[in-house]
Amino acid sequence: MQQRFAGKVVVVTGAAQGIGSGVALRAAAEGGKVVFVDRADFVAEVAAQAQVAQPGAQTAGFVADLETYEGAHAAMAFAAQRFGGIDILINGVGGAIRMRPFAEFEPAQIDAEIRRSLMPTLYTCHAVLPHLLARGGGTIVNVSSNATRGIRRVPYSAAKGGVNALTQSLAMEYAPHNIRVVASAPGGTSAPPRRVPRNAAGDTEQEKTWMNEAVQQVTESTFFKRYGTLDEQIAPILFLASDEASYITGAVLAVAGGDNG
Ligand SMILES: NC(=O)c1ccc[n+]([C@@H]2O[C@H](COP(=O)([O-])OP(=O)(O)OC[C@H]3O[C@@H](n4cnc5c(N)ncnc54)[C@H](O)[C@@H]3O)[C@@H](O)[C@H]2O)c1
Repeated sequence: MQQRFAGKVVVVTGAAQGIGSGVALRAAAEGGKVVFVDRADFVAEVAAQAQVAQPGAQTAGFVADLETYEGAHAAMAFAAQRFGGIDILINGVGGAIRMRPFAEFEPAQIDAEIRRSLMPTLYTCHAVLPHLLARGGGTIVNVSSNATRGIRRVPYSAAKGGVNALTQSLAMEYAPHNIRVVASAPGGTSAPPRRVPRNAAGDTEQEKTWMNEAVQQVTESTFFKRYGTLDEQIAPILFLASDEASYITGAVLAVAGGDNG
């Protein structure tokens, strides 16, 4: 196992499951001091799993609702206090809550998608900056999506388009401070069943049909005609977070089998 994160403090959001937990666990296995942040209260249990792969790994869990600025600020303050600073922030929180034709979205549902898939990243990017500046530089990796071009989830597409825009502008503005800002844009990804569902209310039969239409579009839009694996998402995110990517900033890397979003 490489040790690309030895001596680095890494904060990963959305770290209780899915892509976020995989990224956080591997960053810890590669020597990082990793803070796992999530709204789900079992995040500390996931952070403790790092000990299995890497006895002596330095990890901590922190529960925060990143849809609030206070939550984002508290998470960054905790990480900096616990491990003496922050070098890398990886923003995993996000994900389409509902799949439906745009005309079928209720106004409150549109707001909920933006709150879930844009605001946590916007807030944590703001909240981490003083810590990165204090360190003399650092790296932010935002997890976007190829859904910037896709059906049945237009508000989510708009939120991830916002993530791409903030990635590029923040990168330009903070390059003089030695801060890199990049994004990966995953495509459909196969994963074990979620402990925390995207839509706590559950999907209706109609919504399941709309979801299947989106899945078909996502699969057909790839050159490989398949979903990616968790490992195929985790590896590029950690490459972007590492010093191996030191000359990459302001870039959104499509990781979607040829579907560039
Ligand atoms: N899974 C995919 O197929 C896919 C495809 C493209 C992009 N993505 C993106 O990758 C990222 C991870 O996706 P996933 O499917 O692995 O995630 P997921 O839905 O399985 O897990 C998301 C995690 O974020 C946490 N979370 C949600 N809202 C939060 C909040 N307000 N504050 C704190 N934590 C919160 C949840 O508790 C959960 O642990 C997301 O940004 C998603 O948009 C995923």
